[in-house]
Amino acid sequence: MTRREWLYIAGGVCLGAISDSKAHGGSAASELPATTANRTSLREAAAGRGLMFGAAVPWKQVSGDPPFGDLVAGQCGILTPELELKWEALRPTAHDFDFRTAEFLYQFAKSHQMLFRGHTLVWEAALPSWFAATVDMGNAKQVMLEHVSSVVSHFAGRMHSWDVVNEPFQLEDERPDGLKLTPWLRFVGPEYIELAFHAAHEADPRAMLVLNENWLEPENFATDQKRGAVLALLTRLVKNRVPIHGLGIQAHIFAGTNVTGPGFAKFLHAVEDLGLSIMMTELDVRDNSLPGDVATRDAQVAKQYYDFLSFMLQFKSVRTVLTWGLSDRFTWINRHNPRKDRLPVRPLLFDAELRPKPAFDAVWRAFEEAPKR
Ligand code: XIL
Repeated sequence: MTRREWLYIAGGVCLGAISDSKAHGGSAASELPATTANRTSLREAAAGRGLMFGAAVPWKQVSGDPPFGDLVAGQCGILTPELELKWEALRPTAHDFDFRTAEFLYQFAKSHQMLFRGHTLVWEAALPSWFAATVDMGNAKQVMLEHVSSVVSHFAGRMHSWDVVNEPFQLEDERPDGLKLTPWLRFVGPEYIELAFHAAHEADPRAMLVLNENWLEPENFATDQKRGAVLALLTRLVKNRVPIHGLGIQAHIFAGTNVTGPGFAKFLHAVEDLGLSIMMTELDVRDNSLPGDVATRDAQVAKQYYDFLSFMLQFKSVRTVLTWGLSDRFTWINRHNPRKDRLPVRPLLFDAELRPKPAFDAVWRAFEEAPKR
């Protein structure tokens, strides 16, 4: 963090345009197209059905781009720090914790009456540079437990939920249990998962504890295998009274693919039958395989949002829906999975000018039609 950034957090001083934002016009989110004219916020639309809507955003976008910050404040009832609670951000050294940017987002959420959720405590990605040279078979368990206890205690009583373990499965690693060969698995063993949940629960007994996983939605053989592995683990954790309360479905989905099939439905029913809740934690819809034409892309992305959400909201334990970002002005997909034609991707609910897209209407409609919680 630069001194200027720290001054912002410490003193509430507004930074100028942030460096990684793209050039954009100044139109406000209040300029709604005709179809959305009488629609205020997704937060309210969701609340009307007993649901919660929110998004993951990083502090730099919220603080450095006030119109974007206003959009987040107006639309979201729950907020996830996109980067600020990952080890890379929280752990400058093996002995220190730096909560400043996460605290900034917490204060932002609180001042707009939003709930706050934590992402993520145990993951093999976004680790700090000191990790590989410092953590080994001898100390991994202690390092992990210390991290979980310290971070969860720090926010105890302030967190709606935690993604305790993120993306622990990878069938390509060819373990019979489907677990990914991460440093945690290699150094601590498969019990790292339950150890992390126990430590999190001890540090904040009120927070909802979630296992967050990707690529569970599409209807194909590989995904089906993965669902089986996830279900086997969840069944074992519940049987052993591990304090786990939910499964996070990341839902980074693609327009035009089947994500509402019978295999997925069966899996979600089985998860609910274990007494676990399902959360939608990182929803966005990739338009990479669609033609360049904006109207065509937006219509198909909107259709996928509508079809997927209508399907998911039939499951009564789904109460929380978060998108990964909120506006196409800022989305991780432009960096991680850009379109071949280099056109900016359009995976979110608001365009780069912060205007609601057809996907916004689609989500609104799915909320309106959802069975009430
Ligand atoms: C992503 C962020 O959005 C990017 O900005 C960052 O460069 C990499 O991580 N699944 C997750 C998230 O659980 O933490 C990832 O976030 C997206 C995929």
